[in-house]
Amino acid sequence: MGSISRREMLALSGAALASGAAAPAGEGLDAVARKKGVRFGSAVGVGTPPNSAFDDPGYRALLARECGLIVAENEHKWYVLRPAAERYDFAHADRLAAFARESGLGLRGHTLLWNRDEWSPKWLATHDFGPRPRQAAERMLTEHIRTVAGRYPQMDSWDVVNETVDPATGELRETVFGRILGPELIDICFHTAKAAAPKAKLIYNDYMNFGPAEAKHRAGVLKLLERLKARNAPIDALGIQGHIGGGVDSPDMTRFSPADQRDWRAFVDEVRGMGLDLLITELDVNDKAMPADIPQRDARVAGLTRDFLDLMLDYRELKQVIVWGMADRYSWLQGTSPRPDGLPKRPLPYDAELRAKPMREAIAAAFRAAPERKAWA
Ligand code: XIL
Repeated sequence: MGSISRREMLALSGAALASGAAAPAGEGLDAVARKKGVRFGSAVGVGTPPNSAFDDPGYRALLARECGLIVAENEHKWYVLRPAAERYDFAHADRLAAFARESGLGLRGHTLLWNRDEWSPKWLATHDFGPRPRQAAERMLTEHIRTVAGRYPQMDSWDVVNETVDPATGELRETVFGRILGPELIDICFHTAKAAAPKAKLIYNDYMNFGPAEAKHRAGVLKLLERLKARNAPIDALGIQGHIGGGVDSPDMTRFSPADQRDWRAFVDEVRGMGLDLLITELDVNDKAMPADIPQRDARVAGLTRDFLDLMLDYRELKQVIVWGMADRYSWLQGTSPRPDGLPKRPLPYDAELRAKPMREAIAAAFRAAPERKAWA
């Protein structure tokens, strides 16, 4: 658990008093997880409204109390770090790194390449790669990876590539870099990351999910991982985002049925069969299709969380559980995927006033029930 400043501790208790609620007594979630060789953490946004959770001292104190590590919600993405082809802006990423250091929190990196054109900086789409585009594209990519990974050598892991499999086809997405470099693009990223961040675990991260509608996505991810392994790319683990509940890119997933669990296990078994470890990198529960009633909704969110975590923690290869934010107020899902009734969403372990919800207890209970494993060094 990270140490926090006295000021932040006061702010946290102030926020708790103001809302008439206290944080749960006892150990933080990371301390509970660690007993089983697992780490717990959260994403946090520094300066990308409406996700600037970092400006809230109560929230920072909550992160320090519950988490062992944090990940930038957007601040390592190209569209934040690379305002122009020739310029880097590390201001937000540096603030986050300083906070992690001061609070004794680990850092994980997301992501060296989010290989989707809609999430790349605008200038990239029209960039002139000149008469030798292969060399120029490879140079731009490898320089980026070396610069960013080199600046943050403390990273415990890096999502080297994010979401490069097209869920509709199972093939690699068409992107600026992909069109020029072909599938070798992914190998280049992993090899460059290995050289630039030799101590970090290297991850492929994606949102393939459970349910029959996700079968093509799962198959596509397996194909990519098999290709990387066959070509000896230095990959350590698969990052399973864990945006469960459905609603954004996937159909409704408010249940984790026995059939879904069987198919999901078959997928996870293939991944571990390749010698890869596993992480849950962006856990949240989209409650878009859940009842409006808050106790009922919170119970559904907690139940789905528990089912998913129980199944995943059964695998000794699962080394980290990261939530995509700690408190509902700062969840990306508020804007991305609003409820039809317009009510605020409740996808995360703490509510808008930073009071613990049943999802928080579901996560703690899943850790307590989990088998022990060998932690990542
Ligand atoms: C999301 C952030 O939460 C938003 O603030 C941003 O506007 C878009 O990206 N999968 C990922 C994350 O890998 O990077 C995404 O984060 C959520 C889905």
